[in-house]
Amino acid sequence: MSAAVIDVHGLEKAYGDAPVLRGVDLTVPRGSITALLGSNGAGKTTLVRILATLLRADAGSASVAGFDVATQPAQVRGAISLTGQFAAVDEILSGRENLVLVARLRHVPDPGAVADELLERFSLTEAGGKRVATYSGGMRRRLDIAMSLVGDPPVIFLDEPTTGLDPQGRAEVWRAVGELARQGTTVLLTTQYLEEAEQLADQVAILHEGRVVVNGTIAELKRLLPPARVEYVEKQPTLEEVFLAVVGPVRATAPAGEPAPEATP
Ligand SMILES: Nc1ncnc2c1ncn2[C@@H]1O[C@H](COP(=O)(O)OP(=O)(O)O)[C@@H](O)[C@H]1O
Ligand SMILES: [Mg+2]
Repeated sequence: MSAAVIDVHGLEKAYGDAPVLRGVDLTVPRGSITALLGSNGAGKTTLVRILATLLRADAGSASVAGFDVATQPAQVRGAISLTGQFAAVDEILSGRENLVLVARLRHVPDPGAVADELLERFSLTEAGGKRVATYSGGMRRRLDIAMSLVGDPPVIFLDEPTTGLDPQGRAEVWRAVGELARQGTTVLLTTQYLEEAEQLADQVAILHEGRVVVNGTIAELKRLLPPARVEYVEKQPTLEEVFLAVVGPVRATAPAGEPAPEATP
């Protein structure tokens, strides 16, 4: 069995006469979180839609979980789940009802138990009975990710899971994604944020001008550049650290021996 759960060779796609993918090669190892990094319009969604069998490539080949996306689309669909850029939750229903609905649609045994287990895993137990309309952006996106996990698909695509979220919501989603990979799920997520890739991914692929220009671990990528000259500077907190410290902790994340900064009233 190949170690690559997603294997892409020479993939090409144009819209009309505008080429978007010009020969993409990509491998995603089993059980990894791989970040597909690219600026707006780079073709990330296009690539994800081809892998999810929602769009056909013009040339090249791609397999997901051992199935060819062009010739075995039904098997690919059975092995994946796609969470799009815009959360697909039903506002009128509660978080729990959304999960139960998806579990019923996917013919999962004991939908109620599955819903409760996922609410717990994504720290939504308390909010589970409330209407999604009352949820914050981060809660909504966590619910969306929880819904994509119903039925335990081995491969999950997350298309820009944190775009549009505030720093607190982003931190919540990051924790949820980290949780996914700990369970052995293979995750391919797209992002425009370097920091997000660095935080979450063990593998990074950079999509630029229609090709994956680098694909490797963060350590491998860092080795592409010569080490920086060592300079001693006072470490200033990042704006994000300050924001989170003031707005409130998102569950303890301060490493041992390093007290969390005190939130000022
Ligand atoms: N259905 C479409 N028809 C025509 N052009 C499209 C279509 N979808 C995307 N594009 C164009 O293809 C390029 C890549 O889009 P997309 O894959 O959405 O990039 P990303 O997700 O990286 O922002 C963009 O220039 C976009 O305008
Ligand atoms: Mg996109």
